[in-house]
Amino acid sequence: MPTNIILLGPPGAGKGTQARKLIEDHGMVQLSTGDMLREARASGTKTGQRVAEMMDRGELVTDEIVINLIRERLTVGGPGFIFDGFPRTLAQADALGSLLEEQGQAIAAVIEIKVDDTQLVARISGRFTCGGCGEVYHDRTRPTQTVGTCDVCGSDRLLRRADDNAESLKVRLLEYYKKTSPLIGYFWRDGNLHRVDGLASIETVSSEVNRVMRDHISTRCSHDDVGCASAPPA
Ligand code: AP5
Repeated sequence: MPTNIILLGPPGAGKGTQARKLIEDHGMVQLSTGDMLREARASGTKTGQRVAEMMDRGELVTDEIVINLIRERLTVGGPGFIFDGFPRTLAQADALGSLLEEQGQAIAAVIEIKVDDTQLVARISGRFTCGGCGEVYHDRTRPTQTVGTCDVCGSDRLLRRADDNAESLKVRLLEYYKKTSPLIGYFWRDGNLHRVDGLASIETVSSEVNRVMRDHISTRCSHDDVGCASAPPA
């Protein structure tokens, strides 16, 4: 059965960065609802315009739009999906469970990347992304080797996101705590939640994520296992 995992965490926690590492290490398929919604807004359709307004305000896009996007991309086969930024509400989590069940699949692990709010502002305000291949960089912690050129594909199209500003981040964080953080309890109850320290270096976080993949994916957490989220969510 494919190994499907969810990366959970606030804006700027490092979900996209770790998803790219998982693609490199395991050939998994990334399903980022943020990327899908940015494509939808670029399409200029009526739905795209509605999406753009919600994203620019930092609000979550409606469950209906997001669940439909995921439904369209879920195909059987491959080594597994990395759900990056999805689900973000209880309704989305229920919908994902049903969609996977219809295909005889399941979520193997939910990895919560924990980062203090104070660090998120610095991460978001310094982030830029390659418009050619999607590689994620940071002005201070992960600059390109040659200024203005992507290390991976050589593109000079380095972009900053419209919603990466302090005002929108405040709303995005509020949305996270109000609507997404209840998922921590939801997945913990299933014995599926694993926590990693997102304040560590990108490489260390990646090793921790790989350790979870290696050690815990075939068995569910008993809540007493080392590395499982043994304490109930605060
Ligand atoms: P989305 O694109 O998903 O954004 P997000 O969740 O806010 O997450 P980010 O992409 O901002 O951060 P990340 O955790 O991926 O961090 P990254 O790896 O880039 O969503 C955008 C919007 O779309 C939402 O606000 C909402 O409107 C809508 N949306 C999306 N999904 C939705 C859904 N399911 N339902 C409803 N609406 C939805 O890293 C950040 C920076 O930190 C980078 O510069 C990176 O280099 C650096 N960094 C990463 N890890 C480390 C580390 N360990 N140490 C130092 N620096 C690091």
